[in-house]
Amino acid sequence: MMKISSLAIALVLLAACSQKDDYDPAHDYFTYANTDQFVTKHIALDLDVDFEKKTLSGSVVLTLQKTELVAREIVLDTRDLTIHSVGIVGADGSVLPASYALGQRDERKGAPLFITLPVEVEQNATLLVRIDYTTSANASALQWLPAELTAGGKHPMMFSQAQAIHARSFIPLQDTPSVRVTYEASIRTPPELLAVMSANNDPLTPRNGEYHFDMPQPIPSYLIAIAVGNLYFAPLGEDTGVYAEPEMLDASVYEFADTQDMLEIAEIKFGPYQWGRYDVLILPPSFPYGGMENPRLSFLTPSLLAGDRSLVAVVAHELAHSWSGNLVTNATWRDGWLNEGVTSYLESRLMEILYDKDRVDEERVLNYGELLENFAAIPPERQGLAPRIDSREGDGESSQGTIPYLKGQMFLEYLESRFGRDRFDPFLFTYFRDFSFQTITTEAFVDYLDANLLASNPGIVSRADVEVWMYQPGLPAGALIPTSTTLTRAVELAGAWSVGEATLDELPHGDWSPQAIIHFINSLPAELSKQALAELDGGLNLSATRNAEIARAWFIQVAKRRYEPAYEQMTAYMNRYGRMRLVAPIYSALAANGHDKALAESIFADARRNYHPITIAYIEKIMTQAAVAN
Ligand code: BES
Ligand code: ZN
Repeated sequence: MMKISSLAIALVLLAACSQKDDYDPAHDYFTYANTDQFVTKHIALDLDVDFEKKTLSGSVVLTLQKTELVAREIVLDTRDLTIHSVGIVGADGSVLPASYALGQRDERKGAPLFITLPVEVEQNATLLVRIDYTTSANASALQWLPAELTAGGKHPMMFSQAQAIHARSFIPLQDTPSVRVTYEASIRTPPELLAVMSANNDPLTPRNGEYHFDMPQPIPSYLIAIAVGNLYFAPLGEDTGVYAEPEMLDASVYEFADTQDMLEIAEIKFGPYQWGRYDVLILPPSFPYGGMENPRLSFLTPSLLAGDRSLVAVVAHELAHSWSGNLVTNATWRDGWLNEGVTSYLESRLMEILYDKDRVDEERVLNYGELLENFAAIPPERQGLAPRIDSREGDGESSQGTIPYLKGQMFLEYLESRFGRDRFDPFLFTYFRDFSFQTITTEAFVDYLDANLLASNPGIVSRADVEVWMYQPGLPAGALIPTSTTLTRAVELAGAWSVGEATLDELPHGDWSPQAIIHFINSLPAELSKQALAELDGGLNLSATRNAEIARAWFIQVAKRRYEPAYEQMTAYMNRYGRMRLVAPIYSALAANGHDKALAESIFADARRNYHPITIAYIEKIMTQAAVAN
């Protein structure tokens, strides 16, 4: 039963945001929480992990500060949670029951939980709200993997992915990046399994099924993370290490051997690392992302295990989020570029120091190609770095594609080139210092940039120039278009080979980086015979490659060109990985090639049981859009 007052407020809000002119760039349209009246300071979790029921069950105690005098009702975010009871914890530990109601469920935002305070609370006082609850077996953040979908095949596994707004599916809370909380957790698991969280994991913790965690630095809710499985630890360096199933541990230690160096270089360039240890967790292939920057413990896809360290830019990226994102956080999802764009830029700076500029230029050229594809696919009003989006138009996750990443990175490269690294690097360093453990809107960033870089170096870049990047579609004049000599050569050779001027044996592909091979594949002309594709597949070992990014580029072409001899391996790849970046474009290409929509659907019908709920929802969306387009 929904409270009348809340209903009225909700209706007024809804009416307000349906009028574009009332759009408030500082407002988070993806949360129900009344953060102008109550603000969470700390979260204490006490949960049982039940692999049979596929649930987390127990309690959360939220420490809330009441910031407004008259406030009497707390509104939290939930999605598919069963609430058993709500109460206020007194000084003596007793719990005074509070009345509560779940509002109507919205497809994107979940359902608000309205809690009426049973006692008077003074302004600015804190109160402890205890909620006993159980998650649904379909919680959007959680994947429950049966043993056969893990590397070892003997133990089940469970992991979470909270960004952007999935934390509410495993904890009732104020699910908005604009609120930062510290947290602690007591987690009970089957005794043979290990739990890890985005908190102070102790590599030497006894494996007994009872684990306790503390996260003493305040973080936004989307960075709360947990994984439980047959996990073991191996050190990578003094402050760095890797958690993985034992079957993947050695390969992971080899692949991510540079992590300690990355951390040390990052501290020199961006400022002190504020989080204690930095570990990575290697998940099963169904992990929906390449990486997720859960603080102290980045979650990574095993598709990075190429055997040659060629895909470690993702680690540089997730590590860099320890500054851009985790330390200085986007105020709302509409400011996502402040997390992802700044991080992509830092990632490239780290990669340049650790490896070399040629490698980074190759990545830039590939990214630029991807950005142009994004501009072709995404409506102009969402191509600015900070567009007006609310929860009716987007999901806080994907409505801008990779524009926040790639255009964001190019924006910082533009500033770097205009001001020079001797001025731009100190600017970034002080930005991270001045906004540590805070959130920031695009508009506050532009003010800060203006005051600390533009105005102090007049006549180089104007505020109006910056606003074009923020609010206009496409790429502004002045953007640096990346080039790479090795990739230019790969394009030339793709042309020469495809018209028979060179045989594959004559091409120096043995010396090419995976990035050059990808660019070669992406640059092939539209018309190629089946025989030419077969030659390519065999000559470059494409369908059977261990490199998941080469396979991605190849299978997209396979699907576009309907190269059926490779369909079996393509299907195996789509079953194996649940990382959206790897499989989604293949589904799209199949659905759009004029013949294989039904095939895409049947592959999905089969593969979906291997996927995380986030991937399932995303592929479902792609298939529905394809149905409309056809
Ligand atoms: N934070 C993102 C992942 C993410 C974004 C999760 C939006 C949910 C919503 C992470 O840092 C990321 O960007 N991962 C990339 C890797 C990167 C090198 C571009 C990925 O998963 O591909
Ligand atoms: Zn990122």
